[in-house]
Amino acid sequence: MSDAPVALITGGGSGIGAAVARQLLDAGYRVTVTGRGEARLRGFAEELGHPDGLLTIVGSAAEYGDVQAAVDTTLKSFGRLDTVVANAGFATHDTVAEGDPSGWTEMVLTNVLGPALLIRASIDALKETRGRIVLVGSVAGFVPGPGNIYGATKWAVTGLAENTRRQVTDWGVGVTHIAPGRTETPFWDSYGSLPPGHLLTADQIADSVVWAIRQPEGVDVNTVVVRPIGQPN
Ligand SMILES: NC(=O)c1ccc[n+]([C@@H]2O[C@H](COP(=O)([O-])OP(=O)(O)OC[C@H]3O[C@@H](n4cnc5c(N)ncnc54)[C@H](OP(=O)(O)O)[C@@H]3O)[C@@H](O)[C@H]2O)c1
Repeated sequence: MSDAPVALITGGGSGIGAAVARQLLDAGYRVTVTGRGEARLRGFAEELGHPDGLLTIVGSAAEYGDVQAAVDTTLKSFGRLDTVVANAGFATHDTVAEGDPSGWTEMVLTNVLGPALLIRASIDALKETRGRIVLVGSVAGFVPGPGNIYGATKWAVTGLAENTRRQVTDWGVGVTHIAPGRTETPFWDSYGSLPPGHLLTADQIADSVVWAIRQPEGVDVNTVVVRPIGQPN
């Protein structure tokens, strides 16, 4: 069996997660990507030409059984786990005072509980490789916005990243919190349009993720905020 490093990326069939997966495969990693939609994952694998090093697993980042199964299948298929990227997430694009609460449960479970479940399910394997945890947060997890309920979930990710780092650094496991500004991905489909101004590409965020992951042993990049130029907040 190959001893190439292995990464597991939740929500890796589109946008930022897919860009990270592509860049890591190009760098020689073996990669598992998860997502709720089978068709999206199949399309992504087809687009890449079904590389040997790519495993796609249908499952929700918000369900512990699914997350545990993705970790177990990755370990069974690839024999090790070096990096997990808690990337799955979405916005309901509404506000706490005027929005529709029916969408909030799934958003909170995916954006806040999801990263915690991934950490819990993968930590034993990461201890063995002295691996890395990457949490994809948001600029909205640093800058309050009027009524921003999605932003509140990303503030929780900001907290989870540092709380986790303070525990797992003793075990040789790194924690990187990447907080993207506005990025052109399917994230904005449910908003109805792209936001105004210049946007980053998914690959430009993936560059920072992969840079952090590929630091030498003993170096732990903790917080990276990346905005497109011209985004004021
Ligand atoms: N684009 C931006 O401007 C921006 C800015 C700041 C932060 N972010 C964050 O970046 C991360 C990636 O988003 P993106 O911009 O790349 O958008 P995206 O293309 O919509 O990617 C999100 C992915 O997560 C998957 N997903 C959603 N809920 C899931 C769940 N419960 N379980 C498993 N997979 C799930 C989606 O696939 P399925 O629907 O098929 O499951 C999708 O592939 C998110 O955490 C987002 O909050 C984005």
